[in-house]
Amino acid sequence: MSDATFQVKPCTATIGAEISGIDLCRPLDRTRFGVVYDALMAHQVIFFRDQKLTLDQHKAFGRLFGGLMVHPNTKGPDGHPEILPVHADANSKRISGERWHSDVSCEVEPPMGSILNLKTIPPVGGDTVFASMYAAYDALSAPMKQFLAGLTAMHDGAPGYGKTNRIIGDATPKTFPTASHPVIRTHPTTGRQAIYVSPVFTTHIENVPEAESRAILSFLFEHCARPHWQVRFRWAADSVAFWDNRCVQHIAMWDYFPATRSGYRVTVKGDRPFYRAS
Ligand code: SIN
Repeated sequence: MSDATFQVKPCTATIGAEISGIDLCRPLDRTRFGVVYDALMAHQVIFFRDQKLTLDQHKAFGRLFGGLMVHPNTKGPDGHPEILPVHADANSKRISGERWHSDVSCEVEPPMGSILNLKTIPPVGGDTVFASMYAAYDALSAPMKQFLAGLTAMHDGAPGYGKTNRIIGDATPKTFPTASHPVIRTHPTTGRQAIYVSPVFTTHIENVPEAESRAILSFLFEHCARPHWQVRFRWAADSVAFWDNRCVQHIAMWDYFPATRSGYRVTVKGDRPFYRAS
């Protein structure tokens, strides 16, 4: 595609926008970078169509926003350790991202964003659903916000990645990251508050009895998954989704078996999460 007049079209009033008229295969000038960055900050996840990115172009686009992270469990293609292949077909026993999560939140400095470019899509299905953790936070009552503000939670890569590796028969011994993060994190750019726990990585709330931790997390997981703050993206070949992991969770739908869905993700490094009272 070639650059034309660009347009940012919100998908919902809460989350998601589709950007047209920007060619991500070419270096972005300052104006276009600003449009993309501002749209990501405002809409939390942004979508592009018809982007035939090579792996190098994909990485170059990602690097505009920060360094690229190497995934702690899945190897990239030869020569591209920063690329995460996302692939499912008739031989798959699982897919990536089948439960709600913010990417690799088990890292001490979890990624700010992820950029997924799908090359092959199934004839039907394979959508990704994104949820605004700003909106989920905003919908909590004042006493609940106050209660959660003081809490931290442990995030552990071992349960999720370990399960994946057992399912695919990978017995390579590996150690996965663990990290303690605030349950409510303040976005470093927008200053908005977002819920930052997810079923894939968060094992428990710290410094409370186990039964209380279970009850709090079960409430939050259910609350975060409510449809009120979601956008559902219908992929086409060469579409790109770019989400801000600091304020968005996502889940991938595996409703297309045995068809093939395939592409690549880059993951942009981020900072240590913090909570600052507003
Ligand atoms: C992921 O990055 O969690 C995978 C998302 C997807 O395949 O839609």
